[in-house]
Parts: sequence; structure tokens; C-alpha cells
Amino acid sequence: MSEEKQLANYIMMLAVGHSSTVNLIGVALLSLLRHPAQWRLLAQEPSRIDAAIAEVLRYESPVPGVSRTALSDVALTDKTIRRGEKVICLIGVVNRDPARFPEPDRFDIGRRPNPHLSFGYGIHTCIGKSLAQLATRIVVGNIGALLTGNVPGHGRPGVGGELSRTRAQIPASDPLTRPRRPQHPSWGVAHHII
Ligand code: HEM
Repeated sequence: MSEEKQLANYIMMLAVGHSSTVNLIGVALLSLLRHPAQWRLLAQEPSRIDAAIAEVLRYESPVPGVSRTALSDVALTDKTIRRGEKVICLIGVVNRDPARFPEPDRFDIGRRPNPHLSFGYGIHTCIGKSLAQLATRIVVGNIGALLTGNVPGHGRPGVGGELSRTRAQIPASDPLTRPRRPQHPSWGVAHHII
């Protein structure tokens, strides 16, 4: 691979890898703040962390859509997408399909199976998904171990665009952010992140 292509790949990795993971951590915390019973369940059974992250990915769809250009005419129900036309595939909509996800608007970390499409599908499926899940597991798992309470969180409206979801702010003033162990050295970090 030429040096130029390598550099382009590094930049792309940094851009797509950083913001998407930050957004996932943010929406994971926000979803759990908004569903205190689920937060408590996770605190009681930390082994649910991967299922909880999967449900956040489904429920929030941090990348709600991906674009494609049709390589040939494609008949889809009563419509035909013509070769060369661009389409946006709405992952966020698929992730709430009641035919695949019973009660799709319910946030449920016990949902099984959870075949969400938040990392895409096929040959272009996300290559960074393990890294994103690992980082989220570490942050959410550690914060979950530090916090207690049952006040729903609320953030300023999402920022980004149709194809990226994040939060401008998650307030730290809720009683939920009261630490279980106020003197714990990691608390400063958790407080800063929230
Ligand atoms: C929450 C975190 C993330 C989400 C929700 C996410 C989502 C996605 C989605 C939906 C696609 C498919 C795009 C398509 O089909 O057009 C994708 C592709 C990709 N992602 Fe991620 N991603 C995340 C994190 C990361 C990280 C951490 C990295 C790199 C370190 C990364 C690198 C990539 C790359 C390089 C592709 C293109 C793969 C290809 O076209 O073959 N992503 N991602």
C-alpha cells in the first residue's frame, strides 16, 4: 500500500474510530441513567455488560444509517432503485423492526437474541467493533461499579447529523452521580466523563 493510502487509512480510522466510540459510551450511560431498573440489574449482575452494550447499540443505533450506490437495478417491494442511484439504509429503523425485536421501543438488557445491525452487515461490517465494545465495557463497567441511585438522566438534545448520534451534555448534578465510595480515586474520572 502506498504511503499516501496508508496515511488516508490512519486518518479514517482515527476519525471514525474515535467519535463513534465516544458516542457509544455517552449513549450507553444515558440509556442506563434513563432506565434505572436496568442499571440496577447490570450493577447486580455485571456479567450482563455485553448484552447491555448490545441493547444500547440496538436501541440507540449510534450510526443510524449508511449510504450505498446501487450497482444494478434493484426491485424492492413496489419500488425499483435504479443503477447509480444513491440510497440511505436506515439502521436505526431496522433495529426497531417489531418483526425482529418484540416491543422494540423497550430498552431491555436481557433481550435475546439481539441481532442488531449497528455495526453494519456483510463485507463492510465494522472492523472496529471489538475495540468499540471493549472500550465501552471498560468505561461503563467501571462507572457502573461506582454509582448508585435511581434518577433518570437527561441530556441536552443530540448533536451530529442524520448519520451520527451523540449528546451535547449529560448533567452531573443528579443524585445518581453520588458515588458509593466517595473517596475512590477513580471517582474524579467518572465525574469528568459524565
Ligand atoms: C460504536 C462504535 C462504532 C459503530 C456504531 C460503528 C459502526 C459502523 C458501521 C455501521 C459500519 C458499516 C458502514 C457501511 O456499511 O457502510 C462501520 C464500518 C467501519 N468502521 Fe465502524 N463503528 C464503530 C467503531 C469503529 C471503530 C472503533 C473503528 C476503528 C478503530 C471503526 C472502523 C470502521 C471502518 C474502517 C469501517 C469500514 C469497513 C469497510 O468498509 O470495510 N469503527 N462502522
